[in-house]
Amino acid sequence: MTQDELKQAVAKAAVEYILPMLDRDTIVGVGTGSTANLFIDALAKHKHTFDGTVASSEASAERLKGHGIPVYELNSVSEIRVYVDGADESDHHLHLIKGGGAALTREKIVVACSDLFVCIADESKLVNVLGDFPLPVEIIPMARGHVAREMVKLGGDPVYREGVVTDNGNHILDVYNLEILDPIALEKSIDGIVGVVTNGLFAKRSADVLLLATKDGVKTLKK
Ligand code: 5RP
Repeated sequence: MTQDELKQAVAKAAVEYILPMLDRDTIVGVGTGSTANLFIDALAKHKHTFDGTVASSEASAERLKGHGIPVYELNSVSEIRVYVDGADESDHHLHLIKGGGAALTREKIVVACSDLFVCIADESKLVNVLGDFPLPVEIIPMARGHVAREMVKLGGDPVYREGVVTDNGNHILDVYNLEILDPIALEKSIDGIVGVVTNGLFAKRSADVLLLATKDGVKTLKK
């Protein structure tokens, strides 16, 4: 199976996984990226079984609306039953690196408001130690130099993601060569740097469930 076929399989599996949780009052949180896009397309077939969605990016909101699925502002909903999103890496504790699509801040906010976080990924994303994928850090633009120097002190090699402006009007540093042995501690350290908006470690609040597409089928990993 190709990586695209694996993503397709896990997107469909995610819809089947959350279907029993949906009723006419349910709000679904929706992530960003190519796997999340396939999830949106699969979810559209069931759009009459739930109330609507909160999206973690403008791109996902547009895709949802294109399917005729209602998209609410986060501040206008009181509960998100389940949030479904991809990841760039997951370890076996379901600590994640996210932000390859530059949506990490809104993703983290929607996760924080969700009862359950279902991560969807193909098997290439499961690793023993996080950090092969460069860690995205969303920064206030004027703080770029400062944050980059602080990331070097933490052992990383930051690279400015040229030409990318996030939905929040900020910039991204991709930090290479971090061997992330304590993801929760590193997430807190980076969040403490002045000028950082969010970093792409989802460890303090990890995924609750990882649906992992493999050549032998979709596996369900739980914390
Ligand atoms: C976007 C993300 C994505 O979930 C992550 O980059 C995975 O993307 P894809 O499903 O395209 O591999 O965090 O900010």
